[in-house]
Amino acid sequence: MTGGIAAAALAMLPADSGWAAALEARKSPFSTDEQQTRRADALSYNNFYEFGSGKDDPAANAGSLTTAPWSVEVGGLVAKPTTYALEDILKFVTLEERIYRLRCVEGWSMVIPWIGFPLADLISRVEPLGSAKYITFETLVRPDEMPGQRGLFQPLDWPYREGLRLDEAKHPLTILAVGMYGETLPNQNGAPLRLVVPWKYGFKSIKSIIRIAFVEEQPPTTWQEMASHEYGFYSNVNPEVDHPRWSQATERRIGEGSGLLAKRRPTLMFNGYGDEVASLYAGLDLRAHY
Ligand code: MTE
Repeated sequence: MTGGIAAAALAMLPADSGWAAALEARKSPFSTDEQQTRRADALSYNNFYEFGSGKDDPAANAGSLTTAPWSVEVGGLVAKPTTYALEDILKFVTLEERIYRLRCVEGWSMVIPWIGFPLADLISRVEPLGSAKYITFETLVRPDEMPGQRGLFQPLDWPYREGLRLDEAKHPLTILAVGMYGETLPNQNGAPLRLVVPWKYGFKSIKSIIRIAFVEEQPPTTWQEMASHEYGFYSNVNPEVDHPRWSQATERRIGEGSGLLAKRRPTLMFNGYGDEVASLYAGLDLRAHY
């Protein structure tokens, strides 16, 4: 669909409603034809610590997040730093459906039909300088709407931050998503704009982004700062490098049984996207750079 129609669809949304608007998107050759996770599961089993650390907390609490108006500041080492209203971004991108596997570092996985556009399309607009080697992302801090950010004991150091190498960010598989299952993103899944990097553990796919910056040095990221021996900057899905506390060799696909009956499937190197992305890491020791 054209960006103009997408922008109109998003602009129609009441500011703080949990309403979803239909989004049209063209099909992509990058989509998998694997069985999709049930929408109800993808919308109710979430990680979004700003709304609590339980899997059902985001669905219960994220309705309070105001997602319109929404703007994203894009700056740092670029020739054209710009603060974009979300609807203006949607005017120059073409939305695509990307049905991707999502593998969480915790050992579960889903198959989600995202709707979004290549991050590269936004990157080229701001013209990164030659010195820009990495890109950073930040989620908003809004304790009055995010109960997980209130109180004395905070599970994470806010804002939630993520980062990619610039070549990873420009890779055609890397998208900014504005929708899933044919509609705008539900708040618990990172409305109105989130990153999706399908060959990396899910925590790299930062939700509800308000700031993007281009930098020269590898940036600090939330989970790496929290426990660097457990979570690395790269966090590529890798069945051969275990988490210190559990194996990463297999995964439980949500919807394929639970408890003792849960079927486990082998985890694939780069979450099955090796043909597309392995060359990004030629010569890099993936055990040292987990
Ligand atoms: N982004 C923010 N801002 N806060 C978070 O807690 N959790 C991450 C990631 N993005 C998280 C986040 C983790 S651990 C995962 S697995 C995915 O979001 C989950 O995305 P989903 O709930 O849409 O499946």
